[in-house]
Amino acid sequence: MASISNTSLALTTVVSLLLLVGSSNAQLSTNFYSKSCPQVFTTIKPVVQSAIKQEARMGASLLRLFFHDCFVNGCDGSILLDDTSTFTGEKNAAPNKNSARGFNVIDNVKSAVEKACPGVVSCADVLAITARDSVVILGGPSWNVKLGRRDSKTASQAAANNSIPPPTSSLNRLINSFQNVGLSTKDMVALSGAHTIGQARCTSFRAHIYNETNIDSSFASTRQSKCPRQSGSGDNNLAPLDLQTPTAFDNNYYKNLLQRKGLLHSDQQLFNGGSTDSIVRNYGSSQSTFKSDFAAAMIKMGDIKPLTGSSGEIRKNCRKTN
Ligand code: HEM
Ligand SMILES: *[C@@H]1O[C@H](CO)[C@@H](O)[C@H](O)[C@H]1NC(C)=O
Ligand SMILES: *[C@@H]1O[C@H](CO)[C@@H](O)[C@H](O)[C@H]1NC(C)=O
Repeated sequence: MASISNTSLALTTVVSLLLLVGSSNAQLSTNFYSKSCPQVFTTIKPVVQSAIKQEARMGASLLRLFFHDCFVNGCDGSILLDDTSTFTGEKNAAPNKNSARGFNVIDNVKSAVEKACPGVVSCADVLAITARDSVVILGGPSWNVKLGRRDSKTASQAAANNSIPPPTSSLNRLINSFQNVGLSTKDMVALSGAHTIGQARCTSFRAHIYNETNIDSSFASTRQSKCPRQSGSGDNNLAPLDLQTPTAFDNNYYKNLLQRKGLLHSDQQLFNGGSTDSIVRNYGSSQSTFKSDFAAAMIKMGDIKPLTGSSGEIRKNCRKTN
């Protein structure tokens, strides 16, 4: 008798340990602020809503900020820090310079949250909630956002340069850079569906529209008309990542790829005769599969290396450490 219950106790212990090891972020939870700031969601949503009402693209910009935060040493609000004398931050790193935007909206959200619950809600969590709200407002799926992240006290331009994949990436490089943060190939393809909203600069897609053959030729000419071949004055001209519905969160991104109308080289890599073609076909034909996989992958991305417990801090102003 005693030996049987000892064995089952040992088994239970082993199983619990395995579960703990399996989830590196057992501390994040959807009800983290239910006592300390129950009004966090109702405080944030109207600020995001009004920013998107003023400019629909802002929803895309806010979603992208969360991605660029999470990929650089985890979802810790590091992208929001301005440069200081002791570190060069991420805002001017190659993937963000002249490109990442929405920082003023985050400031407005944070001010509203500080008014409601001073010193309680992290900037990293503000980014997570703001990204979800943006997707919902533009017609995408909803999900329960896990919370309890704390804010970094530093930022890294080098890590931002190295961890966020550039639009020149091959399929292998895309797969690897997501694998490096614990995301699967399927997660990578689902999260890339974020390019159903927002804009890119000519400099990000010039080589693809002039120099590559895996692109619909009439789509290439259309994009060439506002993106001159020579770099220079046209570098910042914008084009929609989804030519059909650039402010609606739907699965048209994948339908475009099936017709070789991806804007970025990296977009078209997902449907170019390689291992991810079948996933693109699946999302292109099923809006509901795309939306549920996107939501699941956003939760996974939000789990990347959060600071919890007594690590980091709750910044008062997202632009600087306390
Ligand atoms: C798979 C690898 C990815 C690459 C190579 C990539 C690259 C890019 C590039 C080059 C731009 C245009 C930037 C510019 O020209 O200023 C862009 C825009 C954007 N990206 Fe990605 N991205 C990737 C994945 C993601 C993910 C995972 C998300 C979010 C979940 C995302 C969300 C966005 C959004 C919403 C925009 C438009 C932003 C705006 O209009 O302000 N991207 N991306
Ligand atoms: C990051 O990339 C930019 C642009 O290529 C470069 O100017 C900068 O020196 C890089 N920063 C670091 C720390 O590597
Ligand atoms: C196209 O490729 C050629 C040859 O590699 C290169 O010299 C040129 O700069 C590229 N053009 C664009 C627009 O990327």
